[in-house]
Formats: sequence, C-alpha cells, structure tokens
Amino acid sequence: MCGIVGYIGSQAINSIMLDGLKELEYRGYDSAGIAVMQDEGIRSFKAVGKLENLRNKVAEYEPEGFGVGIGHTRWATHGKPTELNAHPHNLTHSYVVHNGIIENYQEIKSSLTTECISQTDSEVIVHLFEAKLEQLDDPWLAFQKMIHELHGAFAILLITEKLPGTVFFAKKGSPLQISLAETGCYFGSSDAPMLEHCQESLYLEDGHMGYASENEISLVDWQGKTVEPVFKAMASSRFSAQKEGYRFFIEKEIYEQSQILTESLMGRLDDNQIKLEELEPEWLLKYTSITICACGTSYHAAMVASYLLERLAKIPVNITIASEFRYREPILDSNCLFVVISQSGETADTLEVLKVVKQQGMSVLALCNVDNSSIVRESDVSILLRAGIEKSVASTKAFSAQVMALWLLATYWGQLRKTLSSKRLSQEIQAMRQAHQAVTVPAEMHERIHRLSKRCLHGHGFFFIGRDIFYPLALEGALKLKEISYLHAEGYPAGEMKHGPIALADAELFTIALMGKTLLYDKIKSNVEELSARDATIIAITSETFALADDIIQIKGQEHPMLEFFEMLIAVQLLAMEVAIRLGHDVDMPRNLAKSVTVE
Ligand code: M6R
Repeated sequence: MCGIVGYIGSQAINSIMLDGLKELEYRGYDSAGIAVMQDEGIRSFKAVGKLENLRNKVAEYEPEGFGVGIGHTRWATHGKPTELNAHPHNLTHSYVVHNGIIENYQEIKSSLTTECISQTDSEVIVHLFEAKLEQLDDPWLAFQKMIHELHGAFAILLITEKLPGTVFFAKKGSPLQISLAETGCYFGSSDAPMLEHCQESLYLEDGHMGYASENEISLVDWQGKTVEPVFKAMASSRFSAQKEGYRFFIEKEIYEQSQILTESLMGRLDDNQIKLEELEPEWLLKYTSITICACGTSYHAAMVASYLLERLAKIPVNITIASEFRYREPILDSNCLFVVISQSGETADTLEVLKVVKQQGMSVLALCNVDNSSIVRESDVSILLRAGIEKSVASTKAFSAQVMALWLLATYWGQLRKTLSSKRLSQEIQAMRQAHQAVTVPAEMHERIHRLSKRCLHGHGFFFIGRDIFYPLALEGALKLKEISYLHAEGYPAGEMKHGPIALADAELFTIALMGKTLLYDKIKSNVEELSARDATIIAITSETFALADDIIQIKGQEHPMLEFFEMLIAVQLLAMEVAIRLGHDVDMPRNLAKSVTVE
C-alpha cells in the first residue's frame, strides 16, 4: 500500500523525507517521489523501483534552511509503476501526494480544462485544486471546496507556492497523522516515519482536513467546524510501528481485510452496474468458456470463482493447478479465456503455464497483486488486486481480494452476457457493498477463538468441511492451519466424508464444519450429524444453534452466501493463527515455506 511523509521546518529536509519513506518500505511500493518547497519555488524528484533510485536522483540537490516537503511511496493500482504515475503530481503552482482511491476521477477529469498526463486517479486532485484556486483566489477555501468534490478514500498532503510554509491535509478512509516537535511539523501515513522525531501524534479522523505550519495546526471537520487537535502517544518501537499495533503481520493483515475489500470495489460499482474498466466488453464477450490456473491459496480463490462464474455468468469453467496443467498436454481452445491468479506474480509454476499458453496463441488475463511482476508483464490484460504488500507468508488479505475480484468478474460478465436479471444484479452489488462489514473482525469472535484454540493443540488431525463455495473455504482453512501450526489438516467437501474419510472419525478427530445457512444448510447438517454419531469432535462455524456441536464459533449470519463466506473466512484465519501462536510458532515466517515460490 502507498505511504506518505511530510515535513515543515529547518532541519535537513531531504534526509527527513527519504529516511521517512525508508521506514515505510515495509508497506511495499514500486515507485517513490518527493517535492520540496523553498523560497525559490518547488522542486520535485521521482523514481521507479527502490528508494535508492530516488536517493541517487536527489543527491545533487541539498536544500538548506527552512522548507516544506511532501513524499510518497506508490503501490500501483491505477496505471503502471512509471515515473509519470509516481507521486507527487503537480500542476502550475501546486504538488500533491495521495493514498487511497478517487472513485470519481474520470468524472472530474472530464470536467477539467487542464489535461492530466498520468494514468492515475490521484492527479485530478491537484488539477481540481488549481481550478478552484483560480476561481476563489484563496488556497484554503479552494482546498476545502476541492476535497468536498472527491468521492472515495484519501489521505492527502498538498503544497502550493501560493501559500509558502504551509501543508494542506485531508483524511477520509486512509490513515494520516501529524506531529509537532521542537524541530518542526511532521506528517505520516503511520507511526513508522515519525518515530525518530516525535513521541505523540494527532491521528486524523475521517472527514478531517486543515493546514499546518512549522508549529501550528488548524483543523476542521467535514462541516467546516473547528476541531481541537488531540495528540496521542505513538508506538514504542519501530518494529511494533510496522505492525501497527498488532502482534504479528498475519494478524494485521487479517484485520486489514475490511479496508482492502472497500478499496477493491472503489470505482468499480455503480448503483446498478459493475464497471471493470480493465476489460473491454467486446473482448470479454467473445469468449465462451474460461480456464483458471493457479497454485495454493490462489487456486482456492479459483475454485470459489468456478461456482460464481457458472451461477452468475452461465459460462463453463475449468480450474486447474498450475504444476499439473503444464505437463498434461492440454488441448487449448481459442474461444476459452485463460486466467491466471497470483498474489506475488512470480510463482514459477503459474508463470510457466502462462508462457506455454501464450506460445499457443491464447489470450491471458491475470489477477495479481503486484503490478510490475512477471505475470502481469507477460499477460495480455490484468486486474490488480489492490491488497497492498502481504508480509506474512501465509496468505490472508490477498485471498479475500482475489475472491472479491473474481466475484466482480463473474457479475460483470453476467451483466454483459445478460444472464442476470436486474434484480439479481442489484442484489449482488448490494452484497458487495456490505462485504467490508462481513470481514470486520468482531472482538468477541476473536476472543472466543483465542479461548477455544487451546483445545485444538492435540488430536490426530483436523477436517475442515463445507459445501458449495464453503468447500474451497474449507480447503483454505485447512491450508492456513497446516502452514502455520504444522498440524495435519484436510479440507473436504462435507458430502464426501461418508465415502471414506469418516473411517477416521473418533474423539481425537477435530471437524471444523463451515455451516453457512444460505447454501445447503440441511445437507451439511446431516453430514455433521453422521460424524458426530461416530464421536468426532465438532467445532461448528455458524449463525444457527446446533446442538450436536462440541463448540460453536458464532457468526452474525447473512442473507447472501458471499457475505457468509467472508464471515467464516475470518473465523478460519483467526483459528489457524491462534492455534499456531499457542504452539509457539513463528506465524509470519513458518518453517519450510517461502512467500514467493520462484522454483518449480
Ligand atoms: O503468489 P501466488 O498467489 O502465486 O502464490 C501461490 C501459493 O504459493 C500461495 O498461495 C501459498 O499457497 C501461500 N503460502 C498460501 O498461504
């Protein structure tokens, strides 16, 4: 995810900015930039790739004395990781850095008289600001008017030669904080870049905006009412700052899923239609079937998609594991859209498949989290997952972003193929809008799973069972538990247990039953009853009451299967994490595993 820094004061401004950006590296980025304003005007530097590239560019410029700076690390979501797309973006007098997504950027762009030169959504901010400035001749008024026209999520810092010594800021949906110290005023998108200089920080709330000088902050809320700044203590160390208050990266990433699902929908939903600007309707409509290829967790996302695509777009789906597909001498059909899914974009098995099918003249669509990755470069079209960097080896937030992107794809395709009634389409869109709530972790659920996890440290194995889309979720739950707790776990379709695995059932066999009420509830209930009758220990994840369960992880319950899916997803992720923590394992870096598997 992108990172922001800013500074007003008389210390070595370039070092403060570049060192601050360095502290944000843990969030992942593919380009970076800074802009520094002094009496003689504003200078800006940008570079693609590592911060070292930016440092080299800035090397010959050493501003002394008082200055104002803003800086940014960018994780591409709109437009390639190029210098043109890197922040800060500028127009005649002003520069801006932005985290988040401006949903209505196309609309704003078409209303402007100035021409945007990047492919980003962010550039319109500075253009709109300058347009307002021209009309109003008052930078603060222009800034407020401009902010009120933005839809979406943002943390923004803006500087303008029209008001030297000042940084304008605004926050809605993306984090932003400000600190005042003896050495000046500091800005950041998290504690990490500020810790070296300050002890406490003003954590802006949504709708807050204002302007700051070297030693003063003026703050208002969305209605323009003055707000008294309240400063709070920051994280105690750099390491805990990077985890942003969580014990482990995996925990942070599980909790981040709500924000990620919000961001993954930005600009992609209207009231009654899906907009996937990456996919030209005519291009997509020419395909009559789809093959999806991936590994590990990404393969589980593909399995979910197989249900969704058939149901919503009425299109035949074939899913395949990359390491198997390569050697089976597949028969390819040019009317079939080939899709690869990968968090990292570097998985060797998936990449090799992609090369093989490309050589045979197939078009490939990639769903990927890393824009400049090999898989994105090799594919014809890509949809970026917008999950930000995933540090924990066990994938969590990238999975939910993959599932959301595939749900969007299936619904979009259904919309184009007219396989969805307008009622069904709007039900799907409404449910998508609620997905971020479904993956918000309820405190009582986490506490319950923490307590329950102590009962899961022994036994001869775990079966995660589910039906329909809850079956790939069962596979994913089992994979998470295996990866970080090193306990044996299997995911199984609930109806298949009686065809063999039920022979393993006894009190030492833990069955985690994913009992969503929206799909085949009565069926899975009977499957669980069969296991319970053989004395298996049952942990049910459900919104219903189920007398035969030894333990229940209660979910709120939803009317849409995908929302139940997301609610149960956080339950299985937390269960795996809590069991692994109790067993004393390194949950972020499990033994024998690598984040990106670049060998066959
Ligand atoms: O980066 P990719 O999505 O291509 O990676 C695929 C798998 O290696 C990956 O999902 C792996 O299974 C994870 N460790 C799952 O947590």
